[in-house]
Amino acid sequence: MRQWPTEVRIKEVGPRDGLQNEQNWVHTHDKVAWINMLSDSGVSEIEYSSFVHPKWIPALSDAREVGKRIKRNPNVRYSALVPNMKGLEHALEAGIDGASIFMSASDSHNKGNINKSIADTYSILKEVIDEAKSAGKHVTGYISTVFDCPFEGKVTPTQVLRICEKLYSLGVDDLSLGDTIGTAVPSQVENLLEVLLKYYPQEKMIMHFHDTRGMAIANIMTSMEYGITRFDSSVGGLGGCPYAPGAAGNVATNDVLYLLHGMGVKTGIDEKKVKEAGFYIQKKLGKQLPSKSLMYAAAQG
Ligand code: HMG
Ligand code: MG
Repeated sequence: MRQWPTEVRIKEVGPRDGLQNEQNWVHTHDKVAWINMLSDSGVSEIEYSSFVHPKWIPALSDAREVGKRIKRNPNVRYSALVPNMKGLEHALEAGIDGASIFMSASDSHNKGNINKSIADTYSILKEVIDEAKSAGKHVTGYISTVFDCPFEGKVTPTQVLRICEKLYSLGVDDLSLGDTIGTAVPSQVENLLEVLLKYYPQEKMIMHFHDTRGMAIANIMTSMEYGITRFDSSVGGLGGCPYAPGAAGNVATNDVLYLLHGMGVKTGIDEKKVKEAGFYIQKKLGKQLPSKSLMYAAAQG
């Protein structure tokens, strides 16, 4: 019989990864009310917004306002996406417990996303990591396109390993590995984890699956077989990467909770509260979100 972890930690990325790709503007007060609902769900981390250039991600141009207005639950780590020193300055002003820095494993996605080559990105991130650490903040490093790049195709585990080595040497606390365009199948997850887990413990690795082709739940199962206990997900399956054409939202928190709780894996999160948060943001966006569990719950009334 296979062994599953007894406990899993979810980072709710809906307010950042989820909303960043939305055309419909969600009012600041609605974002704040939604994040407050999520804060009350038992989740241990919420990525509440993104301090990137507002021209690039207009949906999150109110990051500072949101950060200042959300009601902080002391049991929740509030993190935000930070690309550079300007972003960090704004994030510290708005209030963060954690800075999420980010780059890609493939050069062309990195250029499309943050306008820099991989080589030129490190010096920018070093400054951000040093400053965030000296301000006492947790730093998570995202690596995008760890399986496939929309422009370059397959990315090898060795390419990803090189970036892991570099980001750990720069001082990140942990890494979130992004299947940015949702192409990976479980054998790719196995191939990557077989390599990375030779060098880094499972506790330092977070898996971040987008569900473009419906493979995310299978990939989470495979990751758990490798002892991974940390996953990013987004309420309702909201989201996508505006600089990865065709990419769908993150795996839905509602579906992940259904899976984990059904298997007896603890998360500390109240599924009902996440369902209410899903209905709330669905209504604000005026559209049906892709989570199967949420659709089922809506049909039950
Ligand atoms: P750039 O144009 O190269 O920046 O953009 P720059 O340093 O040359 O500065 C140009 C102007 O932007 C200057 O203003 C700066 O002050 C300003 P000017 O002097 O011309 O008036 N500027 C800023 N303003 C506000 N906030 C800032 C900031 N930085 C510079 N932080 C930059 C570089 C990184 C800013 C830009 O490319 C950008 O904002 N990119 C955002 C891309 C993004 O948000 N992508 C989606 C998130 S990543 C993702 O979703 C993947 C993930 O989920 C994992 C996965 O799924 O794989 C994490
Ligand atoms: Mg993402």
